[in-house]
Parts: sequence; structure tokens; C-alpha cells
Amino acid sequence: MNDLDSLVAAAHDAFAAASTPAELENAKARFLGKTGRVTELLKSLAALGADDKRARGAEINAIKQRIEAALQARRQALADAELEAQLHAEALDVTLPGRRRGSGGLHPVSRTMERIEAIFGSMGFDVAEGPEIENDWFNFTALNTPEDHPARSMHDTFYVEGGYLLRTHTSPMQVRHAVQHVKRHAGTDTMPEIRVIAPGRTYRVDSDATHSPMFHQCEGLWIGENVSFKDLKAVFADFFRHFFETDDLAIRFRPSFFPFTEPSAEVDIAFSSGPLKGRWLEVAGSGQVHPNVVRNFGLDPERHIGFAFGMGPDRLTMLRYGVNDLRLFFDNDLRFLSQFQ
Ligand code: PHE
Repeated sequence: MNDLDSLVAAAHDAFAAASTPAELENAKARFLGKTGRVTELLKSLAALGADDKRARGAEINAIKQRIEAALQARRQALADAELEAQLHAEALDVTLPGRRRGSGGLHPVSRTMERIEAIFGSMGFDVAEGPEIENDWFNFTALNTPEDHPARSMHDTFYVEGGYLLRTHTSPMQVRHAVQHVKRHAGTDTMPEIRVIAPGRTYRVDSDATHSPMFHQCEGLWIGENVSFKDLKAVFADFFRHFFETDDLAIRFRPSFFPFTEPSAEVDIAFSSGPLKGRWLEVAGSGQVHPNVVRNFGLDPERHIGFAFGMGPDRLTMLRYGVNDLRLFFDNDLRFLSQFQ
């Protein structure tokens, strides 16, 4: 191998060793640049005579072309490799399934709430909402439960600064709604009946499989001039048969006590078939609104009479779907919740 051939071989090796375009340009400079080895050879021609110059010049030009061709080939190879790498990095698998947005759904307790509102709505009840942070008057005192009343101890709750508390039941809505109703119809001698439900969140210091510190209630209130316990029984019978979509259902009133109703009753239901067959299940508290409370509505208890009730939508949801632990509703485990969609 003569000196020129080995120069071509050296250029090949140098170009092959370059793994980036920048390295390749550096290698090119060493052979073809202003002070590169090929350029140096061309400069050396000046010292030769005319014949030698022509012969040697042709040889040098020939290897210069071979080196340039090798450079070009390497440039192309590097460019191809870069494109290949880029295509690989940006690879898009068009056969992959698309990513969809999951569709949301209603919480089972929200479903129950909607059901309750629809059924009572069909019986002519309005729906009212009120604050979860209540004051002592609406939550207790106006409901015939003064400060030293023993019934307060069953309603231990969370107290907020400034004399407020998280309401322990939806019963304060009886007073809030009735007062508004009476105000709205003040000065007219025929006041329409009060017929309202008030669903919402309530709070007590209680926590086990059937009690959660936050739970739901739905209050009901029907006040008129001639509303009696038999109306309450009819309303409950209608409601529970619609709610559970069955007529195979018995309702029982069990004497009880609440400061704001007199007489008072717990309401139990029993199914005559299905897994809960024959078991009495407590579903609501109720009673005829106490005269002191009717007075706090701004009405005359000699003339206006009626009943109130409070039921537990969480409990109804458990019964309807056969869920035995209340806490499941509030753990936000999608595996549980998605079953209701
Ligand atoms: N507020 C009562 C409770 O939470 C339920 C109730 C409401 C009872 C209305 C009678 C009338 O236990």
C-alpha cells in the first residue's frame, strides 16, 4: 500500500470513527481542511518539476475524490441513523386502543335523595335546603329542647366558633321553612298548608358500621288546619311502597319520644318477602309537631296542626341495595361506587 492509499484508508477509519456530524466535520478538516493532509500534499507539488507535478497531481486529485466520496457516504449514513432514531423515539402505535374519559355517575345516596324528592314531589311536597352550620336556636331551643334538656346529650356534635354547631338533624329546617312560609303569607287570611321536605347532611359524634359522623337526613313537615296522624301514616305507606317498589310491606308506629313532637313515634317497616323478610327495620322518627314548636313557627297551635318526620336516606340506601356497612358509602372506593352506575 503506497502512502496515498494508506491516507485514503486513514480517512475511511477516521470518518467511520465519527459518530456525530460534528465529529465527522472535525475529521474532514484533518484531511481536506486548509491545513489538512490532502491540502498539504497539494502544496508539496510546488516543489516538483512540470512532468512529475502533472503525474503526482493527478494521483493526489484521485485520492482526494475518493476521500470526498467516503466523507459524503459517512454523512449520509449519520443522517440516516439520526432520522431512524427520531422516528423510533416518536413511534406511534396506531393499533393501540384509544384512551377514553370515564363517565361519572351519581353516588348511591344521591340516587336515594333524588328518589325521595321525586316521590314526595308527586305528593305535593316542596323541597327546601338550609345551612349545615346552624345556631343553637334552630337546632335545639326552637325545637323545644332548651339548654338543660337531657335529649341534647344524644345529639353531641361538633361545635364551631361563635356559638355555631354542625346541625345534628335536619329538624331546624322545620322552623326555618315554616317561619319563611308564615312571613310570605302574612296578612292574608288563608295561609296555604306547609308541605315540605328538607334533605341534607347532618353531623353527630358517632362512628361505627351503622353510624358515620356525617350522615344524611330528610326532614318532612306537613302543617295545616286538619292534618292528622292518619295522613302521616298514608304518606309513609305511599312513600315506602314507591321507594322500594313493592306493596309487600308493613308499616308500624312505635311510641317514642322527641322534644319537638307529641305524641312521637318511631316508624318501622317490614318486608313480607326477600332477604329481610319479617324483620322490623327502623326507618324514621316522627310525631305531631309540639305546640311550643308550632308557636315558634309563628302560628297558633289551636288552629294549625300537623306532623313532622325525619328519615335516614343512608339507611334507605343500605336497605334498597343490600349494603351492610354504612362506611362503604363514604370511603370513596370506586370499586364499590361504580357498582351503582
Ligand atoms: N330529628 C329527629 C332525629 O334526628 C327525627 C325526627 C324528626 C323526629 C322529626 C320527629 C320529627 O332523631
